[in-house]
Amino acid sequence: MLGAKGKKVVPEFTKAETLEIIEFMSFKTDCITCHQPDLALVGPSFIEIAEKYEKRPMAEALIARSIRLGSEGEWGDVPMAPHPELTTKEIAWLTDWIMSLVAHGYVEVETTLIY
Ligand code: HEC
Repeated sequence: MLGAKGKKVVPEFTKAETLEIIEFMSFKTDCITCHQPDLALVGPSFIEIAEKYEKRPMAEALIARSIRLGSEGEWGDVPMAPHPELTTKEIAWLTDWIMSLVAHGYVEVETTLIY
């Protein structure tokens, strides 16, 4: 979504939409086994990732690229495997949610899928 001056506008996610994302990341793919919204596990927390990229030009493109192709050496010694099974649309949706965590704050949801 582009706003005034062509700057990317990060959409806000409601509680219901946040729960949908967490369920997708738990059952349709594997993110939640290594990432939590605000707790570092095997990988960095999603909030840390958003903070790292927030000020960079093309933040969304960089995050989307890491999700699709995997990532290595950015955070530590453990690499992240690529996710070729996800569609461009799904990756954009996950990326928008990650960016929304710093743009609009993390909407906490009650689910046993996150700690
Ligand atoms: C098996 C564990 C594991 C799974 C599953 C996993 N990740 Fe990661 N992820 C990591 C690790 C470890 C890193 C840090 C890699 C590095 O140092 O570059 C990381 C890094 C990232 C980054 C930041 C990359 C960067 O460029 O700074 C993003 C974004 C990310 N993961 C998103 C996701 C999403 C979305 C999913 C699900 C589709 C997912 N990850 C699944 C372990 C995982």
